[in-house]
Amino acid sequence: MTAVDLPAAPAFIADWRSYPSSVDLVGLHPAADRLDLLWRDGRISPFHHQWLRDNCACSHCVYDVTREQLLEIVDVPETLLPPHACIDEQGQLLIDWHDGHHSRYQPGWLRAHAYDDASRAERRAQHPQSRLWGAEMAEQLAQFDYQTVIEDDPSLLRWLLAVRDFGLTQLTGVPTTAGALQRVAQRISFIRESNFGVLFDVRSKVDADSNAYTAFNLPLHTDLPTRELQPGLQFLHCLVNDAQGGESIFVDGFAIAEALQQETPDDFRTLCASAVEFRNKSRSSDYRCLAPIIALDAEGRVSEVRMANFLRGPFDVPAEQMPALYRAYRRFIGMTREPRFRLQRRLEAGQLWCFDNRRVLHARREFDPASGARHFQGCYVDRDELLSRIRVLQR
Ligand code: OGA
Ligand code: ZN
Ligand code: ZN
Repeated sequence: MTAVDLPAAPAFIADWRSYPSSVDLVGLHPAADRLDLLWRDGRISPFHHQWLRDNCACSHCVYDVTREQLLEIVDVPETLLPPHACIDEQGQLLIDWHDGHHSRYQPGWLRAHAYDDASRAERRAQHPQSRLWGAEMAEQLAQFDYQTVIEDDPSLLRWLLAVRDFGLTQLTGVPTTAGALQRVAQRISFIRESNFGVLFDVRSKVDADSNAYTAFNLPLHTDLPTRELQPGLQFLHCLVNDAQGGESIFVDGFAIAEALQQETPDDFRTLCASAVEFRNKSRSSDYRCLAPIIALDAEGRVSEVRMANFLRGPFDVPAEQMPALYRAYRRFIGMTREPRFRLQRRLEAGQLWCFDNRRVLHARREFDPASGARHFQGCYVDRDELLSRIRVLQR
């Protein structure tokens, strides 16, 4: 469904969602620079004049078709005189500003965007939380049927929520024809192309341009740590797996980061603070990225792990920090080898892995190409596409 197919929301909501009011507005107290709104459950939410004017959703301030803002708050005086405000019979907040502008706000929308401490804490608690896992994932792995997720939106949503929250899922019953993966990935959205193609073929090649395209053991890694933005999701689809060996191994990088932070906090800080170079070169390309192995988001939570020993450049930190960096790096890799964190499973023809490449590290055990054929196809989709698809399916 595209944006234009959506049923029209009231013009005074600058959004595509609807905001049923769960709690009524029962009063308002004007203050010098804001209104304090009182809710039936006793909560008091301050709304500053600037904030209210900035979020007016009338058709002068927001273009009805795109639901994008036309108003720039800098075009309104910085100190707004206290406006005339009231709550009407439908429970909406009405405001008459001194320059003759009128604004109207739905209580459900105001409640959903209130920024008093309780409302902000409530919203934070609703943020999706990563569900960390270790070796027990072997019994809990979320598996989904290909045909069902292709045909049925609620099943698609269940799969995508598992990808978002656990970072590792498996699809079964996938056709074993080359290119079938494309249909799966496009069920989410755009595929992210790379120098290895829209789909990449994983098999042992004589002219390999990556260790991935050999039969060697490929230690736990994220793909394309050489890029400023590592691909969010990775798919690996098994077309043939008749060779001996080649089992897949996964660890939850967020679970390891958390354990590292608890068990050896100095090592955790070192991996957050030290820039490490990852690179991949071929005759026609030269990718490099300098970034920490563990990245934190604006709120200090682990948001990304970046790791591929076979793509790493020599450490380049001040001499006095080198011993600490080696200690932390050895500790991290040592943890990825601990059974408590690992899931090992052989992927069979018609199955595919879908995992969060910025969170979950994957590995392949050595295989014997003389013992039989082995051919996987892979591709990437960015995290933004996953999250957008989930939100649209949830509307
Ligand atoms: C890769 C990779 C896994 C496998 O191509 O990056 O990790 O099982 N392959 O071959
Ligand atoms: Zn307006
Ligand atoms: Zn890989």
